Amino acid sequence: MLQVFENLSTLHSFRQSLLQSGLSLGFVPTMGALHQGHLALIERALQENDQVICSIYVNPTQFNNAQDLAKYPRDFENDLAQLQKFSNLHVFLPNDQVMYPAPALLKFDFGYLEQVMEGHFRPGHFNGVAMVVSKLFHLVKPTRAYFGQKDLQQTRIIHRLVQDLAFDLELVICPTIREEDGLAMSSRNRRLSPSERIAAKLIPDTLFSAREVIQVRKNSIEEIKNLVHKHFEEAGLRIEYFEIVDRFTLLPIENLDNVKEVALCIAAYLGEVRLLDNVIFGV
Ligand code: PAJ
Repeated sequence: MLQVFENLSTLHSFRQSLLQSGLSLGFVPTMGALHQGHLALIERALQENDQVICSIYVNPTQFNNAQDLAKYPRDFENDLAQLQKFSNLHVFLPNDQVMYPAPALLKFDFGYLEQVMEGHFRPGHFNGVAMVVSKLFHLVKPTRAYFGQKDLQQTRIIHRLVQDLAFDLELVICPTIREEDGLAMSSRNRRLSPSERIAAKLIPDTLFSAREVIQVRKNSIEEIKNLVHKHFEEAGLRIEYFEIVDRFTLLPIENLDNVKEVALCIAAYLGEVRLLDNVIFGV
């Protein structure tokens, strides 16, 4: 039976009982509007742990745009319905009062890692992510925590968070789950109009063809970037950034000769909806 913990005391007593019986606990933090990408994380966590907690909380401090927060899809009933089929899974469903009894004063600074890409275009975003994830880690005390590669920069920030604050847990990063046409699954896809949904295919198409071009080393980094921008311009779509970076450090790659692991990262707008994607590969 799926248990839903809405307050800290029920969560704590569940956690205590697992500790006493020596059982492992997997943790999948989410903001709800669950899709197959989230469910894949949960399935993996269930395979590798005795029990799993999935948290559902739309964290206000990681939204730097009030409209984006207001429009973020919330569908808790449907979320819970999707989770009923799993055994050994429980849900932590806190409200703002539980997560932020007082506004947080502490600030995180991840240096370069938060100055580029998402951090550059969404100032304060990773501070909010680090804050809520730290709180969740302290409350849930997981053995292992599961995150999607879909949000590559977030995984690098959380990797540093775990290292710098010595969280005693194992971080597991899982591959991006895509729709049939290649579009990365995202809660934000629900906000696309039918024509925007069709046009969104350009995002994965561009990433996959740029990957091919890089692997055969036909073009320079600059030529590839120009080509990508041209494709989007021709399709009438706004690209916020397209970066070719080291997948671990996120430092820009200028020359392919001395790198092994590349990440192509993109953020683009379909109308008002901002979508994010990346591919990582060896060269
Ligand atoms: P959310 O966007 O709901 O994503 C929850 C987790 O699901 C993240 O680790 C994300 O990378 C992963 N995910 C999303 N789409 C995916 C896909 N198509 N394939 C694989 N994994 C996917 O990321 C957040 O929430 C928040 O920032 C959070 C970490 C919960 C902190 O508030």
